Amino acid sequence: MRELQISGVRVVIGEAEELDFAVRDTILDVIRRKPDAVLMFPTGSTPEGVYAALVSHFRRRDPGRPEPSWAETRCLNMDEYWRLPPWDPQSYSWYMRTHLYEWLDVQPGNLYFPDAMAPTPEDACDTMERHIRELGGLDHCFLGIGVDGHIAFNEAGLPRSRTHVIDLAPSTIQANQRFFSSPDEVPTRALTAGIDTLLGAKQITLLAKGEGKAEAIRQTLTGEMGVHCPASFLREAADRSTIYLDAAAASQLPGEGS
Ligand code: PGA
Repeated sequence: MRELQISGVRVVIGEAEELDFAVRDTILDVIRRKPDAVLMFPTGSTPEGVYAALVSHFRRRDPGRPEPSWAETRCLNMDEYWRLPPWDPQSYSWYMRTHLYEWLDVQPGNLYFPDAMAPTPEDACDTMERHIRELGGLDHCFLGIGVDGHIAFNEAGLPRSRTHVIDLAPSTIQANQRFFSSPDEVPTRALTAGIDTLLGAKQITLLAKGEGKAEAIRQTLTGEMGVHCPASFLREAADRSTIYLDAAAASQLPGEGS
C-alpha cells in the first residue's frame, strides 16, 4: 500500500483485499482503545469485504488473546429507506444485521437504526440526532461513496445539514435497482445522517473501489469543495480522515492512472 496526502487528507492506495484488512484494523483499533466506542456504518457493496474481514477476525479469536470484544461497542446505521421495515431483507438494518452484527458479540441494546417506521420522517431524524448526542458523538464513521460523490444518502446538490429525509436522486435509485426484483419496488425516500452529522465523527474512514468511483474521488480530493460533491466536505475534516482507494478508484487523481 502507498500513502499520499491530497488536499491535506491521508490517502492510501492498495489492492482491494489489503484495503479491506486495513479498514478492518482501523475499526478494531478504535475498539481496542475504547471498548464502548460509538461506530457508524454504511451499507452497499464496497464495505462487504471489510465486514467479512471483521467477522472472520472475530470468529478466529483465540480465547487466550486479548482481542476486542464488541460487547460494549455502540453501532449505528447511517441511513435507511423510509418505510422499509427492519424485517424487510432490503432494509439497511437487515443488511447490517446479516453482514456484521449477528456474527459478533454486539448487544442488541447497543445497536441503532434510523426508524423508518416512525410517525413522521422528522421524528425519526430528531430521534437519531438526539441519540448520537446522548452517546457523546461518533468515535468513528466508516463511509462508502456514490458515483455522484454522495456519502450516506446525502445526494449531490442538496444543502448540507444534520440527519434529514431526502428524495433519492434518479442515479441512486437506478444504482439500487440491482437489489430489488422490479424498479417499482425501489424506495424513493430515505433517512440519512447529514454531512454535518458525519463530519462530527472523531475519525473518518472512506473506502472506494473501482473505476466507477474514480471521478467522484477526483472531485472529492481535488475539485472545488461544495454540495455538487458532498464527499468533498471531508476536506474540512482532513486532520481525522483517511481515504482508502484501489488503483481504479484512484485513477483520475494527479499522477495516478495510465
Ligand atoms: P456501493 O455504494 O458501495 O454499493 O458502491 C456506495 C454508496 O452509494 O454510498
